[in-house]
Amino acid sequence: MSKYVKMAETHEIPKNKMKVFKVEDHEILVVNVEGELYAFENRCPHMGYPLYFGRLEGKVLTCGFHYAKFDVTSGKSLGSVTDKPLKKFKIKIQNSLVQVEL
Ligand code: FES
Repeated sequence: MSKYVKMAETHEIPKNKMKVFKVEDHEILVVNVEGELYAFENRCPHMGYPLYFGRLEGKVLTCGFHYAKFDVTSGKSLGSVTDKPLKKFKIKIQNSLVQVEL
C-alpha cells in the first residue's frame, strides 16, 4: 500500500535546480522547473546511472553518461538513446513540506 513520506522543504530545491534526497531505500531526484517540482528515481532508464550528474536546461534533463534526454514535466524520453521514460514519483506539497508517495 502506498503512503506519503516527508522528503524535503520546498526552499531546499531552488528554481531550475535539482537535488537528490534519500527516502527510506529510494534515491529520489527532485527537479524544480520554474517553481514546479517533479520527482524521479535517481537512475537513468538507459543503463541505470545517476541522473543527478546530468544537466537541466528548461524542462529537458540530459543524462551525463550517454546523453539521453528527458522531458521532466512528463518523464518521457526525447531522443534516440532510450525510449524508456523516467520513473516518476508522485509528490504532494503541504505548506512548504514536500512529501513523496512510496
Ligand atoms: S545511463 Fe543515462 S544515457 Fe546511458
